[in-house]
Parts: sequence; structure tokens; C-alpha cells
Amino acid sequence: MAKVQTSSSRPYHIIIFGASGFTGQFVVEELARTMSEGPNGTLKWAVAGRSRPKLEKVLEQAAGVLGKPELRAAVEVLVADVGEPDSLAAMCKQAVIVLNCVGPYRFWGEPVVKACVENGAHCIDICGEPQFLESMQLNYDSQAADKGLYIVGSCGFDSIPADLGVIYTRDQFKGTLTAVESFLTASAGPEGASIHDGTWQSAIYGFADSEKLRNLRKKFGHNPLPVVGSKIKRRCGNALFYSSEVQQYAVPFMGADPSVVKRTQRFLHEDYQETPVQYGAYAGVGGAANVAKMLIVGVMFWLLVKFSFGRNLLIKYPEFFSFGYFSKDGPSRKQMEGSSFQFAFHGEGYTEGQDPSQGPPNSKIRTLVQGPEAGYVATPITMVQAAITILNEPTALPKKGGVYTPGATFARTTLVERLNKHGVQFSVIYEPS
Ligand SMILES: NC(=O)c1ccc[n+]([C@@H]2O[C@H](COP(=O)([O-])OP(=O)(O)OC[C@H]3O[C@@H](n4cnc5c(N)ncnc54)[C@H](OP(=O)(O)O)[C@@H]3O)[C@@H](O)[C@H]2O)c1
Repeated sequence: MAKVQTSSSRPYHIIIFGASGFTGQFVVEELARTMSEGPNGTLKWAVAGRSRPKLEKVLEQAAGVLGKPELRAAVEVLVADVGEPDSLAAMCKQAVIVLNCVGPYRFWGEPVVKACVENGAHCIDICGEPQFLESMQLNYDSQAADKGLYIVGSCGFDSIPADLGVIYTRDQFKGTLTAVESFLTASAGPEGASIHDGTWQSAIYGFADSEKLRNLRKKFGHNPLPVVGSKIKRRCGNALFYSSEVQQYAVPFMGADPSVVKRTQRFLHEDYQETPVQYGAYAGVGGAANVAKMLIVGVMFWLLVKFSFGRNLLIKYPEFFSFGYFSKDGPSRKQMEGSSFQFAFHGEGYTEGQDPSQGPPNSKIRTLVQGPEAGYVATPITMVQAAITILNEPTALPKKGGVYTPGATFARTTLVERLNKHGVQFSVIYEPS
């Protein structure tokens, strides 16, 4: 049986590792805003990273932004470096949960998972790299289970909205939900939008390594998940198509969501005997002008990402190769304020009493998950709320520890309600009467 310790046995409920990174700084602000939601209305926390001056600067900045000058003195700074295992061990021994913001995870993530498992800390990350997430499951699941620890990857925009969105859709459906397609759209204000270089680099190395992911998956030796009801069809042979659902052109979503949702559905089926929901993920790209830009970016990316020379070019000039969408500076606070995302979930299934083996689905549902700017506003919210849920609802977590997806970890908790209160909102748009 897994156990969530309290900070009576460890100095901190939460340590934010990589707090000086572009995303880390916003996780610090979000945690500082939400401290009263910890167990017994309080949270003890610290920031960690490899540079004390940078971490002190982050605390100073958060204190200014939030009008909480006490943060500088109240929050401890710990120095830990991924390259120095002893420093990671010392950090992990002090935390109930480590929030790991150090990426790309394929390079820096494993020593942190290892140190957490060996030193008794739960770990939450915001990784969007399936290869890292799945290899941690392969290599650390049984050790984490033995120690009763929850190692929960992809707790940012990748992939809490998609993973919990499918579960929410299933929970709202009256009957047996068998398939969901999601359509992601994002909008920006007059200042435009941008994504920080850290995510650009994670994507570059992820695409370069896609062959390794196929080999890794063979090692699990999974049986295929049963297909219940009609088999979901891929749109337009997995290419660009006009989506009537979002009234714009759309493409298959290239991020971690399909991998994460599938792992969750496998867990829910194998451990809780639930009906697996098939999933297709798409992203809206806008009108014809955006499609033209996307094709140019896509072709350049595919050509360059395969060679180290090309990858170096992509890494050196993110703005140029992404039409300014990725940048070394990341979005400004103004850009973040004007940005938002919407995930529309179109589900189908069988009403109560209808046998899924006896014909096509006879009922539909449509739900929505929407929220603020995805990378640096919604992601800190989902990451911090995931940690607060682990601290507050230990009995609603899976019975044993392990390396889990967000859906597997939080399916039976109140995470969706918590997110609703923080601006990442789940709602039903249409369901048959
Ligand atoms: N799931 C999502 O939706 C989502 C959203 C946002 C970001 N992310 C992911 O989060 C990760 C970070 O992104 P970012 O844009 O914040 O990147 P970033 O600004 O480059 O931050 C990287 C952080 O890692 C730290 N770091 C690097 N090497 C280290 C080492 N050896 N020891 C200790 N710390 C080390 C850096 O420390 P220094 O400050 O000392 O350099 C910095 O704090 C990426 O993998 C990105 O894809 C995911």
C-alpha cells in the first residue's frame, strides 16, 4: 500500500527542482499563490536548482509579482545539480514531492526519477516526451511500487487536459463510452503568442529519436487493448483535413497526448477492468495562410531534424525555423495574458442496455476543457494541483505506488474539481437527454 508522507517526517511538502527555468519561475509563482491548499491549510516548500543566485532572483521576482515580500525569507533555496547524484539525493530526502521542471527530460530526467525512488520522494514532471515517460515506466515502475511512491509524468498541458478530459467525458456519458476524438485549438491576443526554447529543444530531440520509441514499446510486450464498439477511424489517412468540428484545418496532434491517454486506458482496463476508450487527437491549425506556414515549417523541420548539423541549426535559430512561434525569450507576460486554449472532446458510445458488439454507437457526447495560456499559465496550475491532490487525497490514488500517467493517478480524485476552481475548466457542451 502506497503512503503519502506528511512534512512531519520531511522538512518540505514540495520542492520545485529547476525553479530557475522559464517554466520553473511560473511554477514558483503558482505554488506561492496556492499555499493555503496544502494539508491543514498550509504548505512547506523550497526551490532547488544548480544556481543559488538564479534561484534567489526567481524568489525575488515572485515576491514582487505577487506582492508577497515574505517569500524571499520564507522559502528555502537548495542547490542540486543533475550531474551530482549526492546533491539530488540530499534534495530528495527532504521532500514529500519533487516537482521536476528540468528538461529536456531525455537528457536530465532519469537521475531525478532515480534519486526520488531511492530516497523516498514522489515525483511529478511536465514532460511531453513519450520516450522518456515510457522508459521511466519500464525501468522504475516496480521499484516505485515496492517503495509506495508515485512517479507521475506529463502533469502539464501535456497531458492533463487530454488525459483527464477523456476520463471526464467518460464519467459524464450515460452508458459505455467507446471512442473520443479531441480537437485542440489555441488563440492569442493582439500581442501574439510564443513558446519557450526549452519545449522546442524537447521536440527536436523527440522527433530525431522516434525509432527508439518504437523499439522501447516492444519491450513492454503488451497485448493489444480490446476494441469495444466500432473501431475509430483516422481522419484523412493521418494528414491535413478540414475539420467541421473546429471549423478550420486540422492535423493529427504530434505531442505526447495519444501515448499518455493510451497508457491510462490500459491501466484503467487492466487494473480496474474498465472499458478502454479509443482515442484520436487532432490540432486545429487555422486557415489557408497558416496551413502554408505550417507546411513550410514542417518540411524544413523534417529535413533538418534527422542530422546533427540540421538539429544544431534548429536549436540555434528557433524563431527563424518556426516563423517566430518558438523563441529563446519565451512569451512575454502580456502575450501570456492574451492567450488561451480549448480542447473539444467528441465522444461516442452506447446507452445503458445497448450491446456494443451489436452495431454502431447510438449516442454522442461533447465536452470541453478550456483554460489560459497553455505552456506557462495552465501548466503550472495543472502541475501544482496534481501535487496538492497527492498530498490531500492519498486514499483516492492507485492502491500501490508506481510510474503512472496523470489519468491513472487521478481518475478517482477530485483533481478535475480542483482545476475547475483554478481556471482550467471541464464542462459538458452536449449530451443526449
Ligand atoms: N507539459 C507542458 O506542457 C510543458 C510546458 C512547459 C515546459 N515543458 C517542459 O519543461 C521543460 C523545461 O522547459 P523550459 O522552457 O522551462 O526550459 P529552460 O528554461 O531551459 O529550463 C531548464 C531548467 O533546467 C535546469 N537545468 C538544466 N541542466 C541542469 C542540471 N544539470 N542540473 C540542474 N538543473 C539543470 C536549468 O537551470 P539553470 O536555470 O541553472 O540553467 C533550468 O532551470 C522542457 O522539457 C519543456 O518541454 C512542458
